[in-house]
This record gives sequence, C-alpha cells and structure tokens, in this order.
Amino acid sequence: MKALAWHGTRDVRVDTVPDPTIEQPTDAIIRVTSSGICGSDLHLYEVLGAFIDAGDILGHEPMGIVEEVGSEVTHIAKGDRVVIPFNISCGHCFMCGTGLQSQCETTQTHEYGTGAALLGYTKLYGQVPGGQAEYLRVPQAQYGPIKVPEGPSDDRFVYLSDVLPTAWQAVEYAAVPDGGTLLVLGLGPIGEMACRVAQQRGVERVLAIDLVPDRLERARAHGVEAIHLEEHDDLPGYVRELTDGRGPDAVIDAVGMEAHGSPVGRLAQRITGLLPDAVAQRMMQTAGLDRLAALNLAIELVRRGGTISLSGVYGGAADPLPMLQLFDKQVQLRMGQANVRRWIDDLLPLVTGDDDPLGVEQFATHHVPLDDAPHAYEIFQKKEDGAFKILLRP
Ligand SMILES: NC(=O)c1ccc[n+]([C@@H]2O[C@H](COP(=O)([O-])OP(=O)(O)OC[C@H]3O[C@@H](n4cnc5c(N)ncnc54)[C@H](O)[C@@H]3O)[C@@H](O)[C@H]2O)c1
Ligand SMILES: [Zn+2]
Ligand SMILES: [Zn+2]
Repeated sequence: MKALAWHGTRDVRVDTVPDPTIEQPTDAIIRVTSSGICGSDLHLYEVLGAFIDAGDILGHEPMGIVEEVGSEVTHIAKGDRVVIPFNISCGHCFMCGTGLQSQCETTQTHEYGTGAALLGYTKLYGQVPGGQAEYLRVPQAQYGPIKVPEGPSDDRFVYLSDVLPTAWQAVEYAAVPDGGTLLVLGLGPIGEMACRVAQQRGVERVLAIDLVPDRLERARAHGVEAIHLEEHDDLPGYVRELTDGRGPDAVIDAVGMEAHGSPVGRLAQRITGLLPDAVAQRMMQTAGLDRLAALNLAIELVRRGGTISLSGVYGGAADPLPMLQLFDKQVQLRMGQANVRRWIDDLLPLVTGDDDPLGVEQFATHHVPLDDAPHAYEIFQKKEDGAFKILLRP
C-alpha cells in the first residue's frame, strides 16, 4: 500500500510499504477514506525528529471502512463506516473507566513514562503506524472505533478523531462561568473549533488571537472578536480594556510548543534538530525546548482566579515558568491530550443532525490525494495557499 512516512526534518514522502495485517485478536484493519493533517503532525515535521525513525508512518485523524476484524472485536464488522480516535485506549482499565482515555493503562508507553499510545506519533507514544495511508491497523479495536452512519460526506465525521473532542475538552477544561468571557490563543483548526464549540455551548463572548490574516477573518465570520498578535503595542492592556479591566475569565492555548515569538526556544529547537537522536532526546527531556510565548501570554492575559486550558502540545522539561505570576494570580491550569471517546456522546448529535451547527462540512480548505501529501505538509506548515485544514483522500 501507499503511506506517508517521515524521513527527516521537513521531509515526508509517500512510500510503498507492506499492507497491515491483524496481529492481535483486538485489532481491526480499515481502508482509509479520509485522513487529516494536524498541527500535532507539524511538531513531528519540525522538532520531534529525535523520537521518530525514517519510514515511520504518520497520521492520527483517520476514518474509513472496516475490512477485517480480529476475533475479539464485536461492535464493528466488515463494511462498517468508522472514525478512529487518535488515542489508543482499551475501554476497561482504571483510567478509561474514569474517562481519562488518553492515560489508558493498557497502552501507556512505559519506556518513556508517557500516557496512552497514539496513532502515528513517535516512540514517545508507542511508535504505532499512523493513518495517512491506504490501510490502517487499529489496535484496541474492541473499543476505539466510532461507528458513523452511511450517507453524509466524510467531512461530517472525520473530525471526531481529534479536532472535535480536543476542542470540546479545551472548552470543558476552560470552565467559563455563566456570562463569562473566553479568549482563545491560536486560530488553527483546534483554536477555531474551540471558538465554535464555546459559542455552541452558550459562551456569548469569545475573543481570539493569531497572526495569520485569513485565520483571523475566518473566525470573525462567525462572531469571534479576533485580534492580531502584533498590531497592538500593549496587547495585554488592549485585551484588559475589552474585558472590564480584568482580562478574560478563561484562556485556551491552542498554539503549543512552536509559538511565534520565542527566539531562544526556536534556536534550541533548531540546534536539537542537528544533534544525534540520543543526545537530542536527552536535551529535550531534561533541558526543555518549548517556545513558551503563547503560554506566557495566556498567563499574562487571564484574569486573576481565571482558568487556563492548554490543548497546544508542549514537549520540553525545564522551561522557566513565571511561577510568581501564576501563584499570585491564583490561576487554575488544566491540560492534556484529548480523551477522545469521553466526548463522543456529546459530539455525535452535533454532527449527525441536518443543521451542522459546528460547520464541519465547510471546515476543510483542501482535499488532496495521498500522493500530494508532501506538498500539503509544506503549505500547511508555511500557512500558504490558504491552507487551514487539509484532508488527505487515500
Ligand atoms: N491536546 C490534544 O489532544 C491536541 C490535539 C490536537 C492538536 N493539539 C495541539 O493543538 C495545537 C494547535 O493545533 P492546530 O491543528 O490548530 O495547529 P496550527 O499550527 O494550525 O495552529 C496554531 C496557530 O497558532 C498561531 N500562533 C502561533 N504563535 C502564536 C502566538 N504566539 N499567539 C497566538 N497565536 C499563535 C499560528 O499562527 C496558528 O494559526 C498544536 O500544538 C497541536 O499539537 C493538541
Ligand atoms: Zn491531530
Ligand atoms: Zn484503558
């Protein structure tokens, strides 16, 4: 089959590799019909090379048709249409039982001390072959796959794999009080969907910050007060002016470790990219190399006693954090990978009805064949050609 594989920093290629097969009775094989490219894939493309091997297949936002199931998989069968959650969770351990599927104890990667394995996401998360491919082996398929109805386009459902539950959890964790204000940092797919989910859930005032003009415009088109990161001399002062002098009740950071405006972090990330893997891994795990501009901005902007909800991914260890400010402002901080299955019952009615309240059908800007995936990565990373959300069609 054809699959999109990592070969080096900013080097991904469509390779021909063996078709996946059932390895465990809990596996399923699906023929992939749509597969998203995510901001999280850009971390692999740019900075996480130390944890990935040439030839590793990327992709964690797939959906498709079941081809084959193992003997212990009973809730789906050949021919079913399914969406696959990006975290691989068992559904029966302590963590899955408490709704923390991203911490699944059956699939944790003990070697790196990390949570649940993820599709297509480095040695840190189990080095499981991903879904930007013609076929995918789905581990723990007795629990993970979400069955969706025939009929509507893939665009209706594919975001159940990641974007929708991530945005939903970001808003849940933000805990905006009744009548309160939410500010979202980053208007990529996650940030924009978090704005939409917040509005759908009754948050009347949603502000957001980014620096890509067409992303600001997209958000304004659905009622978000979108602010350019670099067009105000005193951004925190400007935001306070808009929010009764206090700052927003909650801030969602949907940017993560490659934030614009962190020169030291950027240099460290570049240097790590040049080191041998073992040295770079150590440096990453002990010396830290996040660009903290977005998180620092969130800490600065949130009102005293407010909540910061982090969905942007961070990867370093020893980054200096403004502890004085966090403590003094009595900030509440919540974060983590989305617990995909936990939010599916809340989300399914919003994507199956006729009215499409979250606008998923118009969400993607590009649908491209798998063969064009290397170019798609490039334009998504450079934010060229209006690339906002790209779905691959293997
Ligand atoms: N927690 C989870 O489960 C989960 C799931 C999916 C994605 N993510 C993470 O969410 C983040 C966003 O994902 P995405 O697909 O929307 O990616 P993206 O790269 O398209 O979006 C990031 C946006 O942040 C903007 N930005 C950069 N620096 C900024 C700054 N200093 N202030 C404000 N905005 C800034 C960029 O212009 C861009 O529009 C990534 O870090 C990704 O890894 C987390
Ligand atoms: Zn993703
Ligand atoms: Zn589990």
